[in-house]
Amino acid sequence: MSKKNILTGIKPTGTPHIGNYLGAIKPALKDMHNSDNNYKLFVADYHAHTTVKDAKLFQEYVYEIAATWLACGLDPDKVTFYAQVDVPELFELTWLLSCHTPKGDLNRAHAYKALVQENIDKGNKDPDHGVNMGLFTYPLLMAADILLFDTNLVPVGKDQIQHVEIARSIASRINALYKTEVLVEPESLVVDEVAVVPGLDGRKMSKSYDNTIPLFCSEKRLKKLVNRITSDSSAADAPKDPDSSLVFKYYQLFASKDESKAFREELMKGISWGVAKAQLFEKINDEIKGPREIYNNLMENKEQIDKLLQAGAIKARAVAVENMKRIRKQLLGY
Ligand code: TRP
Repeated sequence: MSKKNILTGIKPTGTPHIGNYLGAIKPALKDMHNSDNNYKLFVADYHAHTTVKDAKLFQEYVYEIAATWLACGLDPDKVTFYAQVDVPELFELTWLLSCHTPKGDLNRAHAYKALVQENIDKGNKDPDHGVNMGLFTYPLLMAADILLFDTNLVPVGKDQIQHVEIARSIASRINALYKTEVLVEPESLVVDEVAVVPGLDGRKMSKSYDNTIPLFCSEKRLKKLVNRITSDSSAADAPKDPDSSLVFKYYQLFASKDESKAFREELMKGISWGVAKAQLFEKINDEIKGPREIYNNLMENKEQIDKLLQAGAIKARAVAVENMKRIRKQLLGY
C-alpha cells in the first residue's frame, strides 16, 4: 500500500489546556508517531488572524501552540511541522480555488451561517455585521492548506468536516473541468473525542466556560486549580461515591487501570477530598512535569522554536513549490 499524505492544522487562538491535551494532542501524537504515512502538522496562523487582531498576543499564541506540541513529544523527523506563514504558495492557490468556488458554497458554511443567524436573532439590520472577508473565505484558505500538499486524509473534529467537504468539492470540480486529476480529492478522518474532559465545574472543559486547567501552568497554580475541582461537602472520613465524583473522573484520565482501582477503593473507604485532590495533583503532575520543563525551556528560547519551524517549512515548501508549479501549469498554461 502506498503511503498516504495526512495533514492537519491547528489554530493558535488560546493557551492550550488539559482538555486539548487529552482530547486532541496526546491521541494525535500517538497516531502520527505510530504511522508510516506522510504526516504534516502546521500552525494555522493566518486562520487565527480572522479573530486575533493584536500582534503581540498573536505571537504569544503561535509560540504557545508550537511549544506545546513540541513539549508533548512531537518528533519533527517523523512529522513535517511548519507554520502557514512560511508557505506563500498557499495564497496563490487560494486565489485559484476561489475562481472555482460558487459563492453559495461559502454562504452555506456553518461558521459563517452561525454568525449571520446570530445577527438575525439579535435583530441586527445587517446580517453580515461583524463578518470580515477572512471569516467568509476561511474555507478557501483551508482548502488550499489541504490541496496544495496532495492530501489524502485530514484528521479533524466533527466541526471541521464541512470544511474538508468544501475542499473536496472544489478539487473534484476542477478535476472534472480539466478532465484530469489536477488535485487530490481529500477525505476527512474524523477523530472522535477520545476523552471528553470535564472542566473544574463538571461542564466540558472550555475557554468559554472559564473552567480550564492550562496544560503548562506552574505547579503551584495546578495545585490550586485541582483544589477548585467541584466536590461535595461530605465529611472527611465519609465514604465517597467514585462514580459520581469529578475528582475520580480526572484521576482515571491520567492513571492506569490498577491505579484507578486502588483510588476507587480508597474513596469508598473514606478519605477526605483534600487528600484525594492531593493525590490527583500528584498524578497529573507526574505526567506533565517533564513536558512542562521542555515547554518552559522552549518559551524562554523562542529561537529554538523558530529554528524547528523553519526546518519544517523547508521540507513543506519543497513540496508546495513543485505542486504549485504543476497546478499553475494545468490551470493557466504557465
Ligand atoms: N480550521 C481548523 C480549526 O479550526 C484549523 C485548520 C486550518 C485546518 N487549516 C486546516 C485543519 C487544514 C485541517 C486541515 O481547527
